[in-house]
Amino acid sequence: MNRELVQEYYGEILQSSADLKTSACCDGGGVPTAYRPLLAKLHPDVIAKYYGCGVAVPTALSGASVLDLGSGSGRDSYMISQLVGADGRVVGVDMTDAQLATATEHLDWHMERFGYAEPNVRFLKGYIETLGELPLEPGSFDVIVSNCVINLSVDKPAVLKGAHDLLKEGGELYFADVYCDRRLPDDVRKDPLLYGECLGGALYWGDFLEMAKRAGFRDPRLVASRPLDVEDAAMAEKLGSARFYSATYRLFKLPQLEASCEDYGQAVIYRGGVPEEPDVFVLDDHHAIERGKVFPVCGNTWHMLKETRFAPVFEFIGDFSNHYGLFEGCGSGIPFSSGGVSAGGDEPGCC
Ligand SMILES: C[S@@+](CC[C@H](N)C(=O)[O-])C[C@H]1O[C@@H](n2cnc3c(N)ncnc32)[C@H](O)[C@@H]1O
Repeated sequence: MNRELVQEYYGEILQSSADLKTSACCDGGGVPTAYRPLLAKLHPDVIAKYYGCGVAVPTALSGASVLDLGSGSGRDSYMISQLVGADGRVVGVDMTDAQLATATEHLDWHMERFGYAEPNVRFLKGYIETLGELPLEPGSFDVIVSNCVINLSVDKPAVLKGAHDLLKEGGELYFADVYCDRRLPDDVRKDPLLYGECLGGALYWGDFLEMAKRAGFRDPRLVASRPLDVEDAAMAEKLGSARFYSATYRLFKLPQLEASCEDYGQAVIYRGGVPEEPDVFVLDDHHAIERGKVFPVCGNTWHMLKETRFAPVFEFIGDFSNHYGLFEGCGSGIPFSSGGVSAGGDEPGCC
């Protein structure tokens, strides 16, 4: 499938999320309660051309530098602009002129509304497969987000590798995308409408997990997932019994992570302090960590909390001096086997 087709779909064929034929590239704007005031401050044109499939906005972003891959009309970039504050920065990258035009047209409007003297957001035209060609410093981003974009990419391993290169150590790729419970046959993969609707290019989850590990993200963590509806009868017939899910993963750039979750008898205590999660810190669908409670963790989870921006809000108990075998309880990372939880506790709705 080629990029021109995707550009045409998102730049010309779709005028708003109402034109989409499935719930794959539209989560109906379901955002966690904590983020609703941020959404209320966005320009209606930016909201109308939102084609995301999940929540791709992690917590604890104050002061962070964030890159948004396939930023589209800028909805997530402008939400994150409010979270990172005047000391943070957001860069959105997209290849489609019409989407970039909507995002940039309203830049000054948003900066004024957010009360920033200097813009903390900029948008660049470019391909997410060749991030190294853009004026972006390797190892300079705390967080990379993306919402329903990587499934559309012609070279997904290159996207993951490029993201890994641009992240600081301890940074994370936090992104929502569409996955399938099987490898799709060629006629489905090559169908322009299914591809544009974020189904034809969806990865089989097993291939995605393998690809993420090969790009250097050793322990992918599933944050939330939901099944997708294909209501269009003709499309559903072409897809047969394949099942699709929208899933949000977080992939930490931490070279010290092990291939499996190992038990060193460690634990953490959430002290509180993440504004969006005063009582319960959600790392992933198997780690909802209540404030003040001793919470046993594997060595990898320990690193994900200790060597990242989350360290100041945790107490750490134990070390790596004794090993007690395999740690059960971190989940398989497979959307199809778990209900998932959304950061902030709200289930995204469908359009
Ligand atoms: C489904 S839309 C999602 C847009 C945005 N993330 C949102 O949530 O509204 C996909 C976007 O990714 C962009 N895109 C797809 N493939 C791309 C690529 N290879 N390089 C850059 N942008 C790409 C498209 O132009 C489009 O704006």
